Amino acid sequence: MHAVGIDIGGTKIAGALVGDDGSILAEDRHPTPAGDPHAIVDVVVEMVERLSAGQQVIAAGVAAAGFIDSAQSTVYYAPNINWRNEPFRDRLRDRLGIDVTIDNDANAAGWAEFRFGAARDVRDMTMLTIGTGVGGAIVTGDRLLRGGFGTAGELGHLRVVPDGLPCGCGAHGCIEQYGSGRALLRMANEIADAGGIGLALADAREQHGKLDGGILAGFITERDPGALHALSQLGRWLGQACASLSAVLDPEMFVFGGGVSIAGDLLLDPVREAYLTHLPARGYHPEPVFVTAELVNDAGVVGAADLARIHAASIGSSP
Ligand code: BGC
Ligand code: NA
Ligand code: ZN
Repeated sequence: MHAVGIDIGGTKIAGALVGDDGSILAEDRHPTPAGDPHAIVDVVVEMVERLSAGQQVIAAGVAAAGFIDSAQSTVYYAPNINWRNEPFRDRLRDRLGIDVTIDNDANAAGWAEFRFGAARDVRDMTMLTIGTGVGGAIVTGDRLLRGGFGTAGELGHLRVVPDGLPCGCGAHGCIEQYGSGRALLRMANEIADAGGIGLALADAREQHGKLDGGILAGFITERDPGALHALSQLGRWLGQACASLSAVLDPEMFVFGGGVSIAGDLLLDPVREAYLTHLPARGYHPEPVFVTAELVNDAGVVGAADLARIHAASIGSSP
C-alpha cells in the first residue's frame, strides 16, 4: 500500500506519495514557514491530505533534522533549528487520523539508499549526509540502528577535535563543524582571505558580497584550485571520521549524500585517502566502498514513507 513521505528542510518542505517499491507517484513542495513549529504542522497536514486524496494510504512518515525519541514521536532537539521537545507525531496524528511516524532526516535518507538506492545490495552501510549539518544513518545486518533512546546515528556530533569549534548541539569539536556544507564555506572564506589560490574566490566574494553554496558549486565545477582545496580539506576530515566509524561499525559501504555530495569523486577521493591513512589495522582491513547517494533529493521522502509503512505494519501485526 502507498505511504506519504514528508521531508522538512531548512528552506522547503517536500512531500511525496510513495509506492511500496519506493517509486514516487505524486510530489508536492512548500517553503518552510520560519520559526513556528505550529505553522509547520499546518503545512504538513495540508500536504499529506493533498497527496493522499483519493488514494489508499497506510501511513505518513515525516523526516526532520534533529534528535528523535525511540517512539518516533517527539523531536527532542534540533541543533540547526529552534525546536526543543516538539511532539510532532501527536499533533499530526490528531489531525490526520492515520499512523504517523517521525524520523531523523539522515536516517530516512540512509534507509532509502539501503532499500532502493546506492546500498541496495549490501547489508551493512553507513551514510553521511553533507549539507548545512552532517547527518548520519547506520544500517547493520539489514536493520536501521536506532539505539536505546532513538537517537543513534547522530554521526555529525562525533567529536574529532578536543575542545574544537562550538557546535549547535552544545558540544565542541564535532565533525559537523569540519565536514558540513557550512564548514566548506568557512574553509573557502579562509582560503579567499589568504590570497594565492584563493584569489578567484576573493574576487567573487567581493562581487557578490559573500560566498554561498551556489557560488562555491560553480567554482568546484570549474575546478578552481581554491575551491578544490577547500573540498579536499573537508574530505580529509570526513575520511578520518570514517576510519573511526569503521572501528565501531565496520560497514561494507559508506554512502555520501546531501548537497555537497554532488561533487562526486572530487569529494570522495580525499575521503578515501584520509580513510586509508587513519584506518586501524590499515593494510589488513578490507576496504569498504565509498559512493555518493543515488536518490539525493528524493531520499528523505522515500525513506520516511518506507519507515512509516514498516511501522504501521508492525503495529498492525502486534497482538
Ligand atoms: C542534526 C541531525 C541531522 C543533521 C542533518 C545535525 O545537526 O543533529 O539530527 O540529521 O544535522 O540535517
Ligand atoms: Na541519523
Ligand atoms: Zn555537535
